[in-house]
Amino acid sequence: MRKHFFSGIQPSGRLHIGNYFGAIKQWVALQDSYEPVFGIVDFHGMTARYDPKDMPVRVLDAAASYLAAGLDPERSIIMLQSLVLEHLELAWILNCITPMGRLSRIPTFKDKVRQNPDNVNMGLFGYPVLMAADILLYKSEIVPVGEDQVPHLEFTREMARRFNSIFGETFQEPAEVLSSGARIVGTDGVNKMSKSLDNCIYLDDTDEEISRKLATAVTDPARKRRSDPGDPEVCNLYAYHRIFSTPEEIAHCAEGCRTAGIGCVDCKKIVAAHIQEAVAPIRERRTELMAQPSEVRDILRAGADRARPIAQETMREVRDKVGTTLD
Ligand code: TRP
Repeated sequence: MRKHFFSGIQPSGRLHIGNYFGAIKQWVALQDSYEPVFGIVDFHGMTARYDPKDMPVRVLDAAASYLAAGLDPERSIIMLQSLVLEHLELAWILNCITPMGRLSRIPTFKDKVRQNPDNVNMGLFGYPVLMAADILLYKSEIVPVGEDQVPHLEFTREMARRFNSIFGETFQEPAEVLSSGARIVGTDGVNKMSKSLDNCIYLDDTDEEISRKLATAVTDPARKRRSDPGDPEVCNLYAYHRIFSTPEEIAHCAEGCRTAGIGCVDCKKIVAAHIQEAVAPIRERRTELMAQPSEVRDILRAGADRARPIAQETMREVRDKVGTTLD
């Protein structure tokens, strides 16, 4: 039997090629050796102010995007967090052994307080506790996450140790698995791809949008004219070539750049064609799924129905350990 692990998907925003090559591809690959639980974490999504009417749409959108990108409901459990209430039960139990001081030092909490000083709520403060519950509920040994989540994983390991030392050996300490291609620079040529920076190529961008974004993307800033030789090593477009192009094209572009044999425009056309080719099937699949919302909802419900018995099994053990059982 394949082991489980949990990883969370925020019910927000469009996915970009940085998400895809950073995280999703790795998740897709992990479906072979594990039976992962991918949860759309709507309880976490409530820690920021939101419009209740939007939540189901955001959940659907996130689910459709990840399914389109290759998460397979046959090989993984794709579920909605709020349909498995054991997450909250374990979070509460962990709350009761979490020192407040430890939570106040978590960097993501400090960032959120800075960004939204008028909405510092208990849910936000306890966000890492709920995340630890998500992870421990499925006895995860690994958790594939982005670098920004490492402090949460450190906290989760601490909570596993704390629980074990108070109530007896129950949880293993989960290790984070960072995706290798975690850092894809955006079209600005400087920053990591990020929705808030408007430097992304999205998985649902049309061919025209991809061409347009690449046409204005920053290349080697020292290469001002077509006749200037460039340095592929400092060119962001070259980084895209390394991901998307064939070895021959990569060599051709590197050589052409160094000798001013080809210009950035030609180089960009090659990358654009490859990105268009990579993104098109994902975009089309996503459109199909968005046209059948009831099927996507059924996947999330069926996923919750598969996750629940696993969570319940852990909770039987936990209840026994913490004494919330009558016998
Ligand atoms: N905090 C994660 C993020 O922002 C989402 C998340 C919630 C998660 N629970 C999780 C990730 C459990 C991994 C495991 O992306």
